[in-house]
This record gives sequence, structure tokens and C-alpha cells, in this order.
Amino acid sequence: MILTVPRLLPLLLWLFIAPAVAQSFEPYEGQPGKDVVWVPTRHALVERMLDLATLTERDFVVDLGSGDGRMVIAAAKRGARALGVEYEPEMVALARRNAVAAGLAERAKFVQGDMFEADFSQATVLALFLLPTNLRRLAPKFLELTPGTRVVVNTYRIEGWDEETSSDLGDACASWCTALLYLVPAKVAGVWRLPTGELEFAQEVQRLSGTFTAPGGRKMSVTGRLSGDRIRFTVAGSGEYTGRVHGGEMAGEAKGGFSGYWKATRLDSGTEPEPDRGRSPK
Ligand SMILES: C[S@@+](CC[C@H](N)C(=O)[O-])C[C@H]1O[C@@H](n2cnc3c(N)ncnc32)[C@H](O)[C@@H]1O
Repeated sequence: MILTVPRLLPLLLWLFIAPAVAQSFEPYEGQPGKDVVWVPTRHALVERMLDLATLTERDFVVDLGSGDGRMVIAAAKRGARALGVEYEPEMVALARRNAVAAGLAERAKFVQGDMFEADFSQATVLALFLLPTNLRRLAPKFLELTPGTRVVVNTYRIEGWDEETSSDLGDACASWCTALLYLVPAKVAGVWRLPTGELEFAQEVQRLSGTFTAPGGRKMSVTGRLSGDRIRFTVAGSGEYTGRVHGGEMAGEAKGGFSGYWKATRLDSGTEPEPDRGRSPK
């Protein structure tokens, strides 16, 4: 087929107009999205969320549903590597343009995709503005992240999880004003041997309950809590234990009936040993 000028005209017009149309795309608050609409996190809260995460240049930040890219770009501005996963192609293109305009395209990356399909296993920080239903669906994946991985969210809580801390923008802010920080807990459910007896933990996200069995068979109840890879538990009438969990071992200091250094090793198969990627803020 010979491309005559009249035939070429629509193609030429498209080549010139298409980029201009893309550049002029402007999202609006409440714009429909696949599983949640677009509402941007206000810039002051973006900074507050990154502060709560104690972001460093060693971090790899992931925003699931990254919108216009502001969270990812702000994280890159602080020297971290950051990735946004966004379903809407026009939002992805806008976020990429924003990253280029900020001179941060090397560290602030964006991919088009579904957050529920995304691999974010390498994240050291998740920074999210999602609905409770979205967070509920993603939570089992959060629990597979390295203990101590920080999850900062805008306003909506992760059901069944206890936040470590929160920070509010105050009265001048009307809606979506609170940053909350969660730490992915180590997995300790199962049976552990202490020199003084056997510990059995049940775990509900960060909350621990269980039983300590002394060599003679006497049983004592145990309650405790995890904060990333840090553990604290009380053996009723015996002592208070604090320490760190590292795969199949945990160790620390105890005070009370038993005091001093303690170390426990896992007796059941439990979880795989966890890679030490220096995730938790120390
Ligand atoms: C509430 S906005 C948050 C935007 C950004 N994270 C921020 O804090 O400014 C949610 C974003 O998620 C996107 N989204 C909705 N469903 C999605 C899905 N299944 N996968 C990826 N992105 C999705 C929407 O298009 C929207 O941009």
C-alpha cells in the first residue's frame, strides 16, 4: 500500500496529538480505580509517614496503588529506592513524568499492575493509602515479609494488627490526617526449649499466649507481644523475658523468678530461618 499524504494525515496527527493528550491528563479526587479510588495522601502526611518509618537511604519503599507517585518520589528524595505499583496506565505515566520532573527517575520507579498480584517481597518499607478491605486482603502477604519490615499507612488500620505508633496532622487537617506505623512480626507460634522448661506459643499477629511447662510438669500461663523481631513475654509467677528472635532461636534478658541471659531454640519445624537483611529500625 502506498501511503499518500491524505492517508498519512491521520497518522501524523495522532503522532503529534497523542503525547499532548497524555501530558494533559489530570487526575481528579475520587477518580475510579480498580479496587480503590484515587485520593492523594496530602504532602504533609507523606512526610509524616516516611518519618514514622524512619526511612534511610538503605530502604526499598513500595507503594501499592501509587497514584500520581508522590509517596515514591518523596521516598526517593530522601535517598531510598522506591517502587510504585499502579493499575491505571495514565496514572503510571503521570507518576513517571513527575519523577522525571523531580530529577528522581533513577530511584523512583513505577510499574503498571495489580497490587494483589505484585511481588513486593523485597520491600523494607510499605507506604500505603488503601481501604481496610484492601489491607485485609493484602495482610497475609505482609506477614511473609522479613520481621521488622515497616508498614506505614494513611488513616485506615490493618484489621487485627496493633500499631507501634501513630501521628496526626492535628486540627488544621480535616480528613485522612493520621499516619500509623506497623512492624511485621517474627513468627514464633510453636514449641521452644528454654533451659528451664518448654514454651508453647500461640500467635495472633503480634499477640502471644501460651504455656510454659517446667521439668516436673508444672504448667504456667504465658502472655506476650512481638514488635518486629523483638519479643517480650511473661511467664506467670516466674519472670519477664525480653529478647530478639532470629529464625529458630531467640535470646535476651529475663528478670523476676528467673533473671539473667536466656536463650530458647525451636523444637518444632516452625518457620524457615529468616534472612537477616537488617530490616528493623534499631
Ligand atoms: C487512595 S489512592 C492512593 C494513592 C497514593 N498511594 C497516595 O498515597 O497518594 C489509591 C490508588 O490505588 C490505585 N488502585 C486501585 N486498585 C488498584 C489495584 N488493584 N492495583 C494497583 N493500583 C490500584 C488507584 O488507581 C489509586 O491511584
